[in-house]
Amino acid sequence: MSIAVLDFGGQYAHLIANRIRRLHAYARICSPQVSLDELQGVRGLILSGGPASVHDPGQPPYNPTLFDSGLPILGLCYGHQLLCRHLGGEVTPGHTREFGAARLQIGKALGVLQGLEYEERVWMSHQDTVSRLPAGFEVLASTGDCHMAAVYDPNRRIYGLQFHPEVRHTVHGMRILDNFVELCDCPRDWTMDHYLEQQAEELKKQTSGRKVFLLVSGGVDSSVAFLMLNRILGEERVLGLHIDNGFMRHNETDTVRRLLAESGFSNLHVVDASTEFLASVEGVVDPEEKRRRIGAQFLHTRDRALADLQLDPEEWLLGQGTLYTDTIESGGTAHAAVIKTHHNRVDLIEKLLAEGKVVEPLAQLYKDEARELGEKLGLPHHLVWRHPFPGPGLAVRALCSDGRPNWEGVEEAQERARKLAARRELAVEILPLRSVGVQGDGRTYAHPALVWGAAGWEALEELSTELTNSIPQINRVIYLLGPSPRPGQGLKPAHLTRQRLDLLRQADSLAMAALERHGLMQEVTQMPTVLLPLSSDGVQESVVLRPISTDDFMTARSSPLPRAFVDEICGQLLAVKGIEAVFCDITHKPPGTVEWE
Ligand code: XMP
Repeated sequence: MSIAVLDFGGQYAHLIANRIRRLHAYARICSPQVSLDELQGVRGLILSGGPASVHDPGQPPYNPTLFDSGLPILGLCYGHQLLCRHLGGEVTPGHTREFGAARLQIGKALGVLQGLEYEERVWMSHQDTVSRLPAGFEVLASTGDCHMAAVYDPNRRIYGLQFHPEVRHTVHGMRILDNFVELCDCPRDWTMDHYLEQQAEELKKQTSGRKVFLLVSGGVDSSVAFLMLNRILGEERVLGLHIDNGFMRHNETDTVRRLLAESGFSNLHVVDASTEFLASVEGVVDPEEKRRRIGAQFLHTRDRALADLQLDPEEWLLGQGTLYTDTIESGGTAHAAVIKTHHNRVDLIEKLLAEGKVVEPLAQLYKDEARELGEKLGLPHHLVWRHPFPGPGLAVRALCSDGRPNWEGVEEAQERARKLAARRELAVEILPLRSVGVQGDGRTYAHPALVWGAAGWEALEELSTELTNSIPQINRVIYLLGPSPRPGQGLKPAHLTRQRLDLLRQADSLAMAALERHGLMQEVTQMPTVLLPLSSDGVQESVVLRPISTDDFMTARSSPLPRAFVDEICGQLLAVKGIEAVFCDITHKPPGTVEWE
């Protein structure tokens, strides 16, 4: 028995399934074209949001008979508009733009809104609006800008919500989803044990006697996948491959070898391929190009290791600890946009996936679920709670440049940014380099703005949101931590070299040790250290600390750092030969992604 989530391509579509599973009901993702036959055992349908408009000729196709199935339906954002239009209502394009928090006034606290207050804080992100309801529908709740924010047909048990109950910023979103599960009468028997049983069956079917050569970076995802495969298939059918790609944290390979040995793993093969990886990205500046080449290099190194170990490639499938976030952000579901190509989703791997030659036991999970599974399987706490580290590692944290600033359309933006910052007596400068962001379910590649001057966290947070909301050339904001006054800096030519990677490794190691000393490892979920080729003398460079807090990594808040920590780490970093300035990234996700590239 389950709830089916029809994926119309929204960045949060899978989050809905995650939230339903957190309520102990089983939820699975389906294509909107799924047939009624394939929905055996389904007790209710949720239609996700998506980047399209119901007026686009290219809107995702769907199976119209789903609306006649008699199942309870909950449409969210795009799903709400789609169901209203399909059933005879009207949607007005571009009528109201509402992004972010909104106040929902509830007229009738019935059905999915049962038990909610008269007024609730919800999260909106839409441009089109339902302007006429289908026959049989009534309005349950409205916001100032959106009259039909929550609607229902009591007879058919169909609900439409313009806002997103699945994101944490909708304060009682879980209550709404819980009400829906209740009215679907879906059993609450889904647990991690069920997931393990189900995966055991699927893995046995997929491998059908073959073995798995699993890429093990030593992060939580691959370690959990390694443990799970060992348990389900047995050690003789699993071999872990740890590749030192040269983009790892300080002493990473030794740490991974030790941590896994302590956890009882003996079937791990370690390869040093740092020279090949470095050569594969020589002279590359573009972030997506870096990611593609590194992803492909992982496969070349695996092939070489198979040959060195004289293992038959037909007998050994590729294993990866891929999570759902890796797939969705790589544009890996039918209607989603590519935000960045994760190393485990490059073309060569997509090809193997299509041939059924890749084993990914965590591909339906989010980081918080992978961690829960790790704890359940008995992985040591410090391994489960290590900060995540991306496959392409420091390579996507060391920004490169050919030394030519990119100033397209920035002059006028600079003037507008100055006016916004001046209201808070702060200075701002748009920087001549770019980083990746995610806005309105799509990818951006735009400029960071550097802010400096005396200010509290709240003022900085507000300014960061104002700058990124109102100036399209800016998708990220950083704040100067030191030195003061700020050195006059320009862009220097810089590529991925061992020397730059060593400098970044040293900075990252200092930053991580300081987080640990200050007891901040859990409060701050992840803190990439990023190297920028911004320099006053053409030799030294700048570093950015990117502290965030999140549980699912699809959205994240920039995490404020305590003064004592900032003073200490800033002093330590500025004492490192080669570092002349230290910044802190104060951008939430969206609009900035966690990693800069
Ligand atoms: P973004 O930058 O997409 O990061 O907001 C979200 C989370 O994903 C991690 N990340 C990766 N992990 N391979 C990985 O295994 C990758 O290619 C990759 N890119 C980003 C990132 O560190 C953060 O935890």
